[in-house]
Amino acid sequence: MNFQPVLDAIDAELRPLLGAEGQVASYIPALARVPAAQFGIALRTCDGHEAAAGDADTPFSIQSISKLFTLTLAMRRLGDALWERIGREPSGNPFNSLVQLEHEHGVPRNPFINAGAIAVADRLVSLGHAKADLLALMSDLCGEAIAYDEEVAASEAVTGFRNIALANFMKSFGKIDNDVREVLSLYFHQCAIRMNCRQLARAAAFLCRDGAHPSDGEPEVTTERHTRRINALMLTCGTYDAAGDVAFSIGLPCKSGVGGGIVAVVPDQLTLCVWSPALDANGNSLLGLKALELFATRTGLSIF
Ligand code: DON
Repeated sequence: MNFQPVLDAIDAELRPLLGAEGQVASYIPALARVPAAQFGIALRTCDGHEAAAGDADTPFSIQSISKLFTLTLAMRRLGDALWERIGREPSGNPFNSLVQLEHEHGVPRNPFINAGAIAVADRLVSLGHAKADLLALMSDLCGEAIAYDEEVAASEAVTGFRNIALANFMKSFGKIDNDVREVLSLYFHQCAIRMNCRQLARAAAFLCRDGAHPSDGEPEVTTERHTRRINALMLTCGTYDAAGDVAFSIGLPCKSGVGGGIVAVVPDQLTLCVWSPALDANGNSLLGLKALELFATRTGLSIF
C-alpha cells in the first residue's frame, strides 16, 4: 500500500481543526509555550519504507512515550524478574494517581502509569549506566543522535511533587532499591527526551517486527515474546484511563505522552507516530487520537 496519500489526506483534514480544542500541557514552562496549532504524522513499514506529513520533523518532548523504551531495556535485561514488582493490569485511573498503591502494597498496576515507570527506572538504576544506555538505545534505533532536553528535565524535577510522592511511597513499601533522587533523575530525564515523529516511528519499528532492529541485518532489539507483551501492554494500558476507548475506536496498541505524541503499532505491518500538542482530559493528544482513528478506518488496519 502507498501510505503517503493517506497521511497527506489526514493532515489536510485535521489542519483546519488545529488549536480549536484541547489544552497544551501547562505544568512546566517548556511545554506550556509549545504552539498548539501543530500536527505531524509519520510511519515506517516493516520493510523500511517511510512516509510523513505535516510537522513530522518538528521535535517535541516525548514524555511518557519514553516508558516504552525503558520497559524494553528492563525486559531485555531482567526478563520475568521485572514483574515481581510491577503489575500488568490497566489502572483505570489517571497516569499520576496514587490511590491504588496503598492497597496494593506499593506494587504499581502497570509499567506505563507514572508509578510503574518509576519502578522500572529503579530496576534500570540498579543495572547501572541507565541514562547513557537509554540515549544509546534511542539513538541506535532511529539512526540519529538523540538527547535529553535539560531544561525540561530540570523543570520536571522542580514541579514533580506527585512523582516524588509516588517514589517515596513505593520506597516505604520496600519496593524501590535505590536512592529515590537517583531514580527520579532518570525518570525526569526520560520524560525530557526530544524527538520528532519520523524518529519515533523508526525507533518503535522493532515493535512491528517481532523485536527485530529497525535496520535490517542488525541484532534483535528484544525477543518476539517480549515484543508481543509490550504491544499487549500498550493496548491495555498505553493511553491510561482512555485505553478501552482507544481499543474500541482505533484498535491498535498505542503509547501516548503529554507532549502530544502517540506511537501506534500495527503488528507485522508498520509503526506510526502522530503528534499534536493539545491534549484531552486524559492527557492524550486530541488530534493525535483523531488521526489514528482516521488512519485505522481508511486503511482497514487494526489488530481486530
Ligand atoms: O511525569 C509526569 O507526570 C509528566 N512528565 C508527564 C508524563 C506523561 O507524559 C504522562 N502521560 N501522558
